[in-house]
Amino acid sequence: MRKKIVAGNWKMNKTLQEGIELAKGVNDIVKKNGAKCTVVLGTPFIHLTEVVKTVDANLIKVSAENCADKASGAYTGEVSAAMVKSTGAEYVILGHSERRQYYGETDAILKEKVDLALANGLKVIFCIGEVLAEREAGKQNEVVTSQVKNALFHLSAEQFANIVLAYEPVWAIGTGKTATSEQAQDVHAVIRACVAAQYGAAVAEDTTILYGGSCKASNAKELFAQKDIDGGLIGGASLKPEDFYGIIEAYN
Ligand code: PGA
Repeated sequence: MRKKIVAGNWKMNKTLQEGIELAKGVNDIVKKNGAKCTVVLGTPFIHLTEVVKTVDANLIKVSAENCADKASGAYTGEVSAAMVKSTGAEYVILGHSERRQYYGETDAILKEKVDLALANGLKVIFCIGEVLAEREAGKQNEVVTSQVKNALFHLSAEQFANIVLAYEPVWAIGTGKTATSEQAQDVHAVIRACVAAQYGAAVAEDTTILYGGSCKASNAKELFAQKDIDGGLIGGASLKPEDFYGIIEAYN
């Protein structure tokens, strides 16, 4: 059975103190009401150590939102996969469309990051998704499969077991415009078939594929009910414990 995951992506929000409050709030509500999925908090680098200390490790996992494409050395301002791992974080989000779009992260750079993350024992939440013009041209399947192939298909099946995929149509991120559950399911099925072609049906069946893009309490249940949707990567709605729990609750 593949893992169901609801992961928050705080992006560049919350001071350290606010982040600790938010983590505490999520931890309290999950502790009180339970969760039938794996809950992950994706936080800025500087929050990681404190958030790891704040949450109950058996209830909530912690993720970075990025890591460097180099192992160590003279790369001012960068944070390596080994540094992320040393905070106690278990996951790292890589390939988010905002990193691709604003920081020029290509498939080749992401491949380096994925390799370093895995080599340092992190699990990767790897984001893929088409922009609006690609969707309008009917190219979404082509775009997501090439993103997956270019950055991930050099991995062995054993390594690939540490990859969680997140389909995030760029036109749905932060726009309030969610993909319909049917649109999302269609692409998720294509992604799973592409994984099956490379690694076999059993690996594809075990691969967690999250949906992201304006996912909220009111639409999570319908999205998560789709056959190939195994949870969500949540931006805006992960910034308040009640909103985030409303999505986690879709699995209760
Ligand atoms: P959103 O962001 O939920 O605010 O649309 C999702 C994401 O970018 O991961």
